[in-house]
Amino acid sequence: MGNGETRFDVVGAEAISGILARSRREVVRLVRDAYLAHRSGRTINPDSYFLSFPDRPTARIIALPARLRDAPAEEADSGAGSGKADVAGIKWIASFPENHERGLARASAVVVLNDMATGFPYACLEGSHISAARTAASAVLAAGLLHGGTRARSVAIVGCGPIAATHVDYLLDTGWDIASFRVHDRVDGRADAFRDRLRARGQSAETTATVADAVRGAEVVLFATTSPAPYLDDPGLFTAEQTILHVSLRDLGVPVILGAQNIVDDVEHCLKARTSVHLAELHTGGRGFIAGTIADLLTGHIAPDPGRVRILSPFGLGVLDLAVARFVHGRAVAEGHAVAINGFFTAP
Ligand SMILES: NC(=O)c1ccc[n+]([C@@H]2O[C@H](COP(=O)([O-])OP(=O)(O)OC[C@H]3O[C@@H](n4cnc5c(N)ncnc54)[C@H](O)[C@@H]3O)[C@@H](O)[C@H]2O)c1
Repeated sequence: MGNGETRFDVVGAEAISGILARSRREVVRLVRDAYLAHRSGRTINPDSYFLSFPDRPTARIIALPARLRDAPAEEADSGAGSGKADVAGIKWIASFPENHERGLARASAVVVLNDMATGFPYACLEGSHISAARTAASAVLAAGLLHGGTRARSVAIVGCGPIAATHVDYLLDTGWDIASFRVHDRVDGRADAFRDRLRARGQSAETTATVADAVRGAEVVLFATTSPAPYLDDPGLFTAEQTILHVSLRDLGVPVILGAQNIVDDVEHCLKARTSVHLAELHTGGRGFIAGTIADLLTGHIAPDPGRVRILSPFGLGVLDLAVARFVHGRAVAEGHAVAINGFFTAP
């Protein structure tokens, strides 16, 4: 390189899924550090932009731009694999639920990384694996804090798509000891396949006929559905023993939210787009029902409440995608999996 040329890399899903599968504990650490950076003002993370289509009401494409700066102490060793110490970028993620009927995944995405020294994009990475990994790492990190450990008699999974599967991988590969799983999906075949995948990993797993049967008595409950509006309104279904990972954000009714200790990733982000916590804000006219953020838990500014069900509602911050994509790109370059496009940028 030289003579004003800039390098531009493309990294595909096969390389990325391999890197991520070998790096789950590392990804949890990256996500934790990104939350702490967000709390200490070293990020810029504006609202996600939702591109919607009047003729395709179930489809959307979301843009999540962000910037992440390492703390000065980290900058010295940022060359050791994490990548540039000051990076910006964007995740551009499509959700087309009807894709299932075509045998395709609902979500597809790319992440673009920009060098903050020049502004130039320097990498484009397939984004759906990165997105699933950062979502699962975030929920599993919070689950350990809210549940008070990594041992559970029973874990319930509601909604059996790739996001739920990635959460299971993160639970099991970061040391959770889970006696049994109960899984539910409104499509029986998807729940059956998910149960079989768990059994193939040596786990005890059963499907349940109803969502209530899955949830009742489970110590950790993951919601990873595509429900557009709440369908569980009875706070009596939930107990103080439970930690709820409400990743799909729109399953729980306002009475359930108001009876819980509520943790979010970012208050401003979560109180939008008719999430359950947004509906609770509209209902009550205030935000007093939100206890704090994952970063508040990490720094000890709030503690899990053992007297109430604890609900995590993570809207999903672009800065997490950036942190994980930067790491994956560094690994892909080191392992020879990044395809450099020579001459991608020339002066106009
Ligand atoms: N909060 C975040 O940061 C974040 C990040 C990524 C994905 N997500 C969300 O995770 C969810 C799951 O993503 P995915 O890619 O696995 O989707 P998917 O469409 O592949 O799978 C969702 C599954 O949920 C099932 N389902 C839908 N409604 C249900 C209901 N009411 N009861 C039981 N099952 C139901 C569907 O049959 C399907 O099997 C999506 O809502 C997505 O938006 C959230």
